[in-house]
Amino acid sequence: MSKQPIGIFDSGVGGTSIWKEIHALLPNENTIYLADSLNAPYGPKGKERIIELCVKNTEILLRKGCKIIVVACNTATTNAINYLRTNYMIPFIGIEPAIKPAALHSSTKTVGILATKGTLSSELFSKTSSLYACGIKVVEQDGDGIVQLIENGKLDSDEMRSLLKIYLQPMIDAKIDHLVLGCTHYPYLIPQLLELLPKHVKIIDSGEAVAKQTKSILKKNALLNNQISNPKNQFFTNTDLKILNSLLGNNYKVEYLDF
Ligand code: DGL
Repeated sequence: MSKQPIGIFDSGVGGTSIWKEIHALLPNENTIYLADSLNAPYGPKGKERIIELCVKNTEILLRKGCKIIVVACNTATTNAINYLRTNYMIPFIGIEPAIKPAALHSSTKTVGILATKGTLSSELFSKTSSLYACGIKVVEQDGDGIVQLIENGKLDSDEMRSLLKIYLQPMIDAKIDHLVLGCTHYPYLIPQLLELLPKHVKIIDSGEAVAKQTKSILKKNALLNNQISNPKNQFFTNTDLKILNSLLGNNYKVEYLDF
């Protein structure tokens, strides 16, 4: 069982930011990444539809023999992880916006969060936010359009820069000192965000924490692959291979899968 792959899925290519953290921490593990780019973005879809899509992705990863599933999408986690944990036997790791460390370290007592509508309006997010950001002003911003631009290969474009400028201004005006990235597509925007934000603003994302949590749950369940062999890393998308390829570099092969 320990040699079985770690399954990872996202609404598209953004979850590769999480795959990279997992691969760096657990280089011996076999992995399978599913990019459901055909259905991206999940953010504007309702909870029921997001659950349906997560079930579809989960079933594919289970058929491929995964021993654990990482839901590398904040929108999918905040809307569907409880459903998945209730209905399937294997462990699920989710990702949520890192409000807690941002709130804890904020001097201005004001933090910003950029996430999808689906994440910001979820019950799980409002619970986490009221639990950890008590006494802190949280400036929420729906990043509408950002995921679509990344999925369309416009990560580094004038359109992206203009959108980010519009989204960041209210946070800058409110004097945030931490910006929480609440979507796994957004770590790819860090160079542009750093250009647009005042120097003292810290950017926080949850990728490393997710990788650590994956390791700890594998260990707890005696599922760590301790064999030093040539791990297999497979990447599947249900649209064009180009964008996923461009984020992974030439060392990995991306395959088309109809799902
Ligand atoms: N990567 C997804 C997330 O973390 C993007 C969601 C979407 O497709 O809108 O939320």
